[in-house]
Amino acid sequence: MSDVGRSDPDCRPHDDPAAARGGIVRWEIDADRILTVWLDAPEKSVTTLSAAAWDGLAAAVHEIEAVRPAGVVFASAKPRSFITGADLFELQAMTDEQLDEHLARGQRILDQIAALPIPTVAAINGDALGGGLELALACRCRVAADDPRVKLGLPETTLGLVPGWGGAMRLPRLVGLEPALSLMLSGRSIPPAEAVALGLVDRLVPREQLLAAAKAVATDPPMVAGRGSAMAGEDRAAVLARCRADVRRRSGDHLPAPLLLVDLVETGCEAGPEAAAVAERRGVVALRATPAAKNLLRLFSLRTAAKRAAAAEAGGGPRPLRSAVVIGGGTMGAGIAAALAAAGVAVNVVEASEQAAAAAGARLAGLAVRGQSPPWPLSTQATTGNAEGFPGRRRPHPAADQFIHGLLARSAPVSVPVPVSTDWGPIVDADLVVEAVVEDVAAKLDVFRRLDRTARPDAILASNTSSLGIAELAAAVRDPSRVIGLHFFNPVAKMPLVEVVRPPAAAGDAVATGVAAATLLGKIPVICRDAPGFVVNRVLFPYLREAAVLAATGTDPQKLDAVVRSWGMPMGPCGLMDEIGLDVTLLIFRSLARSLGPRLTAPPLVETMVARGWLGRKAGRGFYDHPPEGRPVPNPEWAAARGPVGKTVVVDEPLVERRLIGPMADEARLLLDERVVASADAVDLATVLGIGFPAFRGGLATYAATVR
Ligand code: NAI
Repeated sequence: MSDVGRSDPDCRPHDDPAAARGGIVRWEIDADRILTVWLDAPEKSVTTLSAAAWDGLAAAVHEIEAVRPAGVVFASAKPRSFITGADLFELQAMTDEQLDEHLARGQRILDQIAALPIPTVAAINGDALGGGLELALACRCRVAADDPRVKLGLPETTLGLVPGWGGAMRLPRLVGLEPALSLMLSGRSIPPAEAVALGLVDRLVPREQLLAAAKAVATDPPMVAGRGSAMAGEDRAAVLARCRADVRRRSGDHLPAPLLLVDLVETGCEAGPEAAAVAERRGVVALRATPAAKNLLRLFSLRTAAKRAAAAEAGGGPRPLRSAVVIGGGTMGAGIAAALAAAGVAVNVVEASEQAAAAAGARLAGLAVRGQSPPWPLSTQATTGNAEGFPGRRRPHPAADQFIHGLLARSAPVSVPVPVSTDWGPIVDADLVVEAVVEDVAAKLDVFRRLDRTARPDAILASNTSSLGIAELAAAVRDPSRVIGLHFFNPVAKMPLVEVVRPPAAAGDAVATGVAAATLLGKIPVICRDAPGFVVNRVLFPYLREAAVLAATGTDPQKLDAVVRSWGMPMGPCGLMDEIGLDVTLLIFRSLARSLGPRLTAPPLVETMVARGWLGRKAGRGFYDHPPEGRPVPNPEWAAARGPVGKTVVVDEPLVERRLIGPMADEARLLLDERVVASADAVDLATVLGIGFPAFRGGLATYAATVR
């Protein structure tokens, strides 16, 4: 990127008008008459298609038409991203008329680029998402860096919107109708190698050769024929009908954007580009006003601001984080250690015995090989779960999982070897120690007492406990101001949330270091007080309790789970308890009931199931039977285990709202009254990212405010 604007006699930098355009777009022409248009939003980590960026692109097109170069390359001067889409903050602030004009302008500019009579190439060095990919689609060819961390996609439906700059027309023409619809409806972003297989990218090259390769393609473009959406009308109608049926089945009436997207693609195929351009503008303007899009866009803004907000709320400055030790290399410890290592922290794992160390080593190696496991369920001590396996549904409710999909998609597995041993030596030098040993207060107190003697006096000590009080653990060290909670979720590689727990004695610097650690690992930190269940388990367990009470009095668990999923949760409460493990569920109920009282008492049904050895997936039987292969099926002995059947209840969404979500919302109100978190926004973020509360409903606090 160093050649941007330099005074090479072969290059003609035209950066004077750029200052007036906010300096986002510059260009230069080389000796082969290839004009490179550089995009680079100053002082931003990524470039978005803001109004100023469109000004720059309009000027660049003007220049191209005046200079008549042999070819054009569109490139990003950001080290790792191409263009990450529209400027969503700007977009939210526009009136409907302004938004329509903003979209129309982008459409005109991309149409002009697409109509240029010379080869045009997008040099994709990093994420090309939304409008960024639409710019690339308007080019004749696309060359990408061969890097699996790069993501390409049109994720607009995850924000309740549709592409607004021609993507829904150009993508089907390039890669074919079905693959294009599948990519856009899922909101998935894909790495360059997959994009090549799809026909979206023409050439993959090593990153350092990207510009030269893009210029070579601009000089001598390959003959590329799009795979086309021009299937016969009948075939096309069948594909569109299938997509509509699939969308209705999976997201019901909750999300208008996916259905509108299918309509848009149909308009593009049948009524031509002009009608499609009008339809896409109208679609974006109308969708933006829907509650779903408003909630999704608001959560996007909250998520973007969360790291800064948490850093400000911490009330101190983060200490350096170069080295860390994780104590306990079990399910959670191994995941946390792998994440720290991947983020560049020198990390060691300390285990209790040689045998446990060997097991932890194998676990870490397994994480490196398998990459990531499926994201659901999310909280508590859940084993890795997957709603996919549940009866009656092939995948988690897309309306629930789309929002966090974007976050999850970014976490490409990086495997860095992590030493594991029983030696406490590395603790002497560690900046951060994360305790992740078994959930047993005596074991944890023992670890903290030993840390008090071993760790550097300025090291931050964190516990990953999910049900114990941090202050109780902090009492075991002489300086409790350095002890915090860092509550990661399972599986660590996938789950975007970390609850940073602030016990009363914690210093601002310690909390700030926790926030910085979570941020370094690519997680969203939410700071909360050292209160029972923190945020996520506190609201989840009243909901699980009601589900168990309903199931005990004759409600079919399978039916209940299905209705909860169609309401928008990623999996039903009975399936979730099976995944968490009924024994672990029982322990958490007991722990919460001790501090929060009878409303969290363990339901007798859970006690009975544990007594019968029905521990859920790990035991092969719980609310469901879990065969070693295949999907869970109804537990044939279920009726015998539950109590006497009560009055028949109709299992529908109003029941779910009244009986299950209602208590969850009440608990959210209580924890806000108790100031467990600083704001309702924090509850929304924590519940969407931590339990998959449907993002299109805005998060639990927003939902609670609407049903009060
Ligand atoms: P686990 O049982 O998989 O792993 C615990 C590990 O700690 C074992 O490898 C064990 O050998 C080791 N260990 C025990 N005592 C030790 C000691 N004195 N020194 C060094 N290592 C020791 O447990 P898991 O599930 O990883 O949980 C760990 C902590 O994380 C618990 O506090 C739990 O509540 C919390 N947590 C668990 C979640 C889950 O879904 N599993 C989610 C969030 C938090």
